[in-house]
Amino acid sequence: MDQILQKPLRMKDVAWVQVGAGQSHESARLHVSGRANYTDDIPELQGTLHAALGLSPVAAGKIDSIDLAMLKSMPGVVDIVLASDIPGVNDCGPILHDDPILAADQVQYLGQPVFVAIATTRNAARRAAFLARKAITITPSEPVLTARDAHRLGQYVVPPMKLSRGDAESELGRAKHRLDGVISVGGQEQFYLEGQIAYASPADDGGIKVWSSTQHPTEMQLVISHSLGISANKVHVECRRMGGGFGGKESQSALPASVAAICANKLNSPVKLRYDRDDDFMVTGRRHGFEYDYSVGFDDEGRILAAQIDMITNAGFSADLSAPVMTRALCHFDNAYWLPHVLIKGFCAKTNTQSNTAFRGFGGPQGALAMEIIIDKIARHLGRDAIDVRKVNFYGIGRNNVTPYQQAVTDNVIHQLSDDLLESSNYRARRKTTAEFNRTSPILKKGLAFSPVKFGISFNVTHFNQAGALVHVYMDGSVLVNHGGTEMGQGLNTKVAQVVAQELGVDVKNVRCTATDTQKVANTSATAASTGADLNGKAAQDAARQIRNRLLQFAVDHFGCSIEDVMLQNDMVYAGDQELPFGEFVMLAYRARIQLWSDGFYTTPGLHWDPATMSGRPFYYFAYGAAVSEVLIDTLTGEWMLLRADILHDAGKSLNPAIDVGQVEGAFVQGMGWLTNEELVWHPKTGALLTHAPSTYKIPTANDVPTEFHTRLFRNESAVDSIFRSKAVGEPPLLLPFSVWLAICDAISSVGDHKIQPPLRAPATAEAILTAVEQVKKASADIGALPPR
Ligand code: MTE
Ligand code: HPA
Ligand code: MOS
Repeated sequence: MDQILQKPLRMKDVAWVQVGAGQSHESARLHVSGRANYTDDIPELQGTLHAALGLSPVAAGKIDSIDLAMLKSMPGVVDIVLASDIPGVNDCGPILHDDPILAADQVQYLGQPVFVAIATTRNAARRAAFLARKAITITPSEPVLTARDAHRLGQYVVPPMKLSRGDAESELGRAKHRLDGVISVGGQEQFYLEGQIAYASPADDGGIKVWSSTQHPTEMQLVISHSLGISANKVHVECRRMGGGFGGKESQSALPASVAAICANKLNSPVKLRYDRDDDFMVTGRRHGFEYDYSVGFDDEGRILAAQIDMITNAGFSADLSAPVMTRALCHFDNAYWLPHVLIKGFCAKTNTQSNTAFRGFGGPQGALAMEIIIDKIARHLGRDAIDVRKVNFYGIGRNNVTPYQQAVTDNVIHQLSDDLLESSNYRARRKTTAEFNRTSPILKKGLAFSPVKFGISFNVTHFNQAGALVHVYMDGSVLVNHGGTEMGQGLNTKVAQVVAQELGVDVKNVRCTATDTQKVANTSATAASTGADLNGKAAQDAARQIRNRLLQFAVDHFGCSIEDVMLQNDMVYAGDQELPFGEFVMLAYRARIQLWSDGFYTTPGLHWDPATMSGRPFYYFAYGAAVSEVLIDTLTGEWMLLRADILHDAGKSLNPAIDVGQVEGAFVQGMGWLTNEELVWHPKTGALLTHAPSTYKIPTANDVPTEFHTRLFRNESAVDSIFRSKAVGEPPLLLPFSVWLAICDAISSVGDHKIQPPLRAPATAEAILTAVEQVKKASADIGALPPR
């Protein structure tokens, strides 16, 4: 008896954490050994046919005819599907209905899907689709290809937006210093390793099952139901995992999903559609490139008194998610700074290019980058260290803390976080050594920069902030959880399993997450806006807690102890002086007819947003971070490298520090690619995307990761009741590599002794760096010999 009593007491005292531990990703072993199943790995059903898209060869025009006979005569071709074959609505737009699945009478960009070739093999389908140029006759019209051109024409996908506070115009006139300028920032391809894919199979009773690589199974279900003209309860969408989404599969998985479903429905056969990389580039949109016109007024210390900015983005041919992307851009222009008077306008220009969409950060990076570039210019103008200008502008604590959209910043940690990072990165001393290096190095130049991040967490469309989950405890004590979120590599399933394990007192190894499935949890939101773990973690916690409460009550009834004496922990159940394994206890509960499964639901509290006045509380809380980057550039070639990066990022009380550090470092490198190597080029006349493959579009590789890469998570707890006081981590760190671009700019600026604003564009490709260096050199020569600094 003594022994029995002592053992549980000792075990009970062991800190039992499933949440907060750095477990590896639930599929890590499968990922690295090639055993993780993606949509294309699903064993094919008998009779599976393959689809390929026939793409418009011109950017704008009227479709005159399509040579069906020629296409159908191609070997292996079973059928050709056109817009007129769509039984329901020919639209896959997520918000507005301006996104045809297949072009009907007009084409709106080069690469727009016009027909589907269905064949017995994928290669046969692709060969037929490749004949698009010959098969489609189009009367072309003049395309509008750039955001600036469309803006001049007043051509937008949604009405212009405005976010303002105070009177920026008059305050600009009163400010002692004023700078005006333009900035240009390019777009970015998601470059998920697994391209867009969907596989559809007809079910009985007019239903359909679709396996889709999507961040938004519910949206796929709805789009398919509309396009087939059937009710949502006949459409079943499933996604086990994606090989990356990065926002690219939030809305734009709808085209392949509905095409596969339409073809499967028409031919009564399973049909798979997998884009190859070039088609993925040509068909889908990406991160919105932005153009900015700004004016800023400030005092001698660089304190911003008023700012005015027009943000003009290339939305592409349709609205897609451009309106919420622009809203997030407007709401992130402030970044970490208090702006007393501000006027921000947003224009979503309609052009004849792919329709741009979500990409990690969702407009937030584009909004905040403009501010960081402006602050840097202020610092250079005043001859002050940019860090000091940043600090005088930071949101205050308890004062100067209201954003332009009227949400108070009540969880501000940017002051402590910045000081901590500046200290650990040895910023001030390295400023001096960098200047020293540049004095004695005529060709190679170093640059150093710090940049902060404040990122709002929640969907900026209030009603999306909801989630559901189902938790099943089986008779053997093993646990299954299903929730509305999708796994795209970010570790959401691992985190949700940790939450359930924590609540039930079992080891996370006994908790399994299954494929996202519209027949399990209904009416889900996209896994996006970094809210996956916040929303689905809370919903799963709700479900697990209901089961836990029933189990606790059962233990009280069964063992006759008080509820305070019952504990679920260590895969064991402790009840008074009794202890037994969780599995055995669960079997007892089952025999006592206790419900061992439950649903859970969560909505984020306290959110509201008025799109008419652009004000409210769109975000539950803010995530913070900062980075210091040091680069080396070659002023003769424009080549550069990142020598060192120091990151301090706020993930609240991290659910899983191992996964969160991975998210921070991955986002940093991905954002660095956006701002440096990754350049999109469209032919200025035809509108053909020329950079449509890895041969011409360069994403960063392992070689671009700096040898000195110091990543730390900031010790913090969320100020609000987020899941275990953690903070969302998926998108905010994408803004950390602003410091890389700013450091490159700093290095270029040293060529003109920091007296000239380098006219550097983003992405800072070698070509852009070299051009900026040449311009700085020329401008310094023009103003004469510069005294040494
Ligand atoms: N991490 C990986 N490995 N793959 C991805 O596709 N997408 C990012 C981010 N991290 C992504 C990722 C984006 S755009 C978002 S919104 C979040 O993950 C979504 O997941 P979460 O909300 O569960 O963090
Ligand atoms: N992020 C991602 N997707 C969205 C958002 C957002 O803020 N709002 C609406 N859809
Ligand atoms: Mo992320 S861009 O919200 O999918």
